[in-house]
Amino acid sequence: MKKLLAMILVVCMVCSLGAFTAFADEGDLIGISMPTKSLERWNRDGSYLKEQFEAAGYKVELTYSDNDAVQQNNDISNMIADGVKVLVIVAIDSDTLSSVLKDAEEAGITVIAYDRLINNANVAYYVSFDNYTVGVLQAQYVIDALDLNNAGDKTYNIEFTAGDPADTNAGYFFNGAFDTLKPFIDAGTLKIPSGKTTFEQVATPAWSTDTALENFQNTLASYYGDGTVLDIALCSNDSTAAGVAQAIISDYAGDNQPIVTGQDGDIGNLQNIVDGYQTMTVYKNVADEAGVTLVLVDAILNGATPGAELVEKFAAEAAFDTETYDNGLGVVPSYLLVPYSIDKDNLELLVDTGNYKWDADNHYLVSTLG
Ligand code: GAL
Repeated sequence: MKKLLAMILVVCMVCSLGAFTAFADEGDLIGISMPTKSLERWNRDGSYLKEQFEAAGYKVELTYSDNDAVQQNNDISNMIADGVKVLVIVAIDSDTLSSVLKDAEEAGITVIAYDRLINNANVAYYVSFDNYTVGVLQAQYVIDALDLNNAGDKTYNIEFTAGDPADTNAGYFFNGAFDTLKPFIDAGTLKIPSGKTTFEQVATPAWSTDTALENFQNTLASYYGDGTVLDIALCSNDSTAAGVAQAIISDYAGDNQPIVTGQDGDIGNLQNIVDGYQTMTVYKNVADEAGVTLVLVDAILNGATPGAELVEKFAAEAAFDTETYDNGLGVVPSYLLVPYSIDKDNLELLVDTGNYKWDADNHYLVSTLG
């Protein structure tokens, strides 16, 4: 009798496994192409996307292309050959995917530009944050912290560090910040001792921390070596802010801590915020960005052509935009989530997202991802 029960149990287990496998096999294959593991946020995006798509029954092929545009082309080609139904892509270089995405188009694959727009390719949708607002939030933080509207005759020195010229977002971040601060620059309240006022002069290829460090060391040596006070280092994101903060620690002679801005809520940068080496970061909840992408893909694979109505289905606030993001072939309909400012006084908001928790000493934030 015992033997019979054991056999029935085994048969049942095999059956349920078979049923589960059959269900998973039925799921469409989704190709997710991330740029690099060396920038912290893409590890988080990759994890959330994979986790959420698999939980919804899809199969996922996830690649990281080492910040190498040629490798990303190959990785995407392989995913096309593997029969993906949808490609979710963060472009390493927005201008080098046209040809491989022509292949995707011919194979009837839907392409979603994730976070960064892809130029000159048939992209069905763009899912991102309001990129211009990211820069506005950084600038607004500076305006409030220094009360620039009531500065009177006071003047402050500012230097900019921007992102990767191959990334369509980088210009939006820089312009959002620069445009917002321009009235104060024009009025003479903000001065730029280096004279570096254009995106090209302050861009940081591949968003490299090392390059940002080196560039800022040069700026400090050339324009601040005589004791000139630096008040603000406006950095477009956390990987560049990490380099700039490091340069300030090692090479800045002044005894004030300049305001240092950032973006992404990377763990090391949040530690720097606690320790006072960075002042703020613009947070973009990438678990929500993944969630929006899943809802969008679900709708597309169910035959819909989603528009503004889809935002009702998102767990997070997002706007449907059909004006801003022209990729050279036309405006790409976009779902844009909402970024917000984080500094040492509201770190708890990050805990509220569920994506971070306090460490054992209740001092620094750590990720809730494994
Ligand atoms: C941007 C992205 C930012 C930042 C940066 C560096 O495209 O929007 O959040 O992570 O890349 O990877």
